[in-house]
Amino acid sequence: MDNSNNEVTKVLEQYSQEINKEIKEVLSTIEPASLKKASIHLTKAGGKMLRPALTVLVSEAVGGNKKDAIKSAAAIELIHTFSLIHDDIMDQDEVRRGLPSVHKKWGEPVAILAGDTLFSKAFELVINTKVDGTSLGNESFERINQTLATVADACVKICEGQAFDMGFEGNFDVDEDQYIDMIFKKTAALIAAATKAGAVMGGADEKVIKAMYDYGKLIGLAFQIQDDYLDVVSDENAIGKPVGSDIAEGKMTLLVVKSLAEANDEDKKRLIEILKLDDTSPEHVSEAIDIFEKYGSAQYAYDVAMENVENAKQILEILPDSEAKQALSLVADFVVNRQN
Ligand code: IPE
Ligand code: IPE
Ligand code: MG
Ligand code: MG
Ligand code: MG
Repeated sequence: MDNSNNEVTKVLEQYSQEINKEIKEVLSTIEPASLKKASIHLTKAGGKMLRPALTVLVSEAVGGNKKDAIKSAAAIELIHTFSLIHDDIMDQDEVRRGLPSVHKKWGEPVAILAGDTLFSKAFELVINTKVDGTSLGNESFERINQTLATVADACVKICEGQAFDMGFEGNFDVDEDQYIDMIFKKTAALIAAATKAGAVMGGADEKVIKAMYDYGKLIGLAFQIQDDYLDVVSDENAIGKPVGSDIAEGKMTLLVVKSLAEANDEDKKRLIEILKLDDTSPEHVSEAIDIFEKYGSAQYAYDVAMENVENAKQILEILPDSEAKQALSLVADFVVNRQN
């Protein structure tokens, strides 16, 4: 597992330099200096680069030219970073990518603006794409248009998903279907947009574009389920963000939803009490974890995530064999095996 995780880390990193170059360039003109610093803060901290790498890998796997997908890939990473800045304000989390979160360092007003700036710059990047102008002609215009629509759709879904996520706090009747719909919107929709954008910019046909969206959606669901799991079992140094934050905020993660569905009255009552607390201690977090364990909720969450990953890998069979296709299969496994 560790070996294949290392392999995937290398796959994800291989495009980082080119993607970061685009990001650096498009953010270079922001003023005043304080907004510029706040906007580039997390882009310099180095995330996993999962989403932009997926865009480029899919474009290669459908036979496209990597160059044509780089700006869209960078745009997707900027949308992701915007969502992290705003998410940390909403979740009141003060560490991100091992650094102080943007609102911790510059305050909430500047953090809101930094997020909005990255959001807008993402669209600027896609519009600036030049798809091999000479041979593609009008097709490049159509691809850019479809990518813009794809990114815009994901942004609306992120906002809807985040609104559901916050609205679910304190609502202990949320069921698994509602949870899945919420994480589709807040997380999987952008990963699906990343893979779809790669297919679009790579010139795939409609059937393959749809398949790549579905692949991204399935690994995106598994990705968020693993994120919920890591929030309770990891440590801050390993994931670069606070641990136990979901329990402190009373989030309806799959671990909570499953435990509440299975628990006896006493355990259910206690779990709800912990989730409602205003100042959650590490002891409360361990108590919640004991309840998750008692009802096999972590194993259940892993099984649900794995099922999505297996289905995602099946979808890849629509693609001709290639190195990029193989990498996409490894990335699917990585989303549930990753430790950060
Ligand atoms: C964190 O995403 C936000 C979620 C959707 C769970 P990542 O785990 O991909 O964050 P970075 O980009 O590596 O920091
Ligand atoms: C991810 O959910 C939501 C986003 C769209 C950014 P989380 O709130 O669980 O993400 P982390 O754990 O803070 O990265
Ligand atoms: Mg969060
Ligand atoms: Mg959140
Ligand atoms: Mg999380």
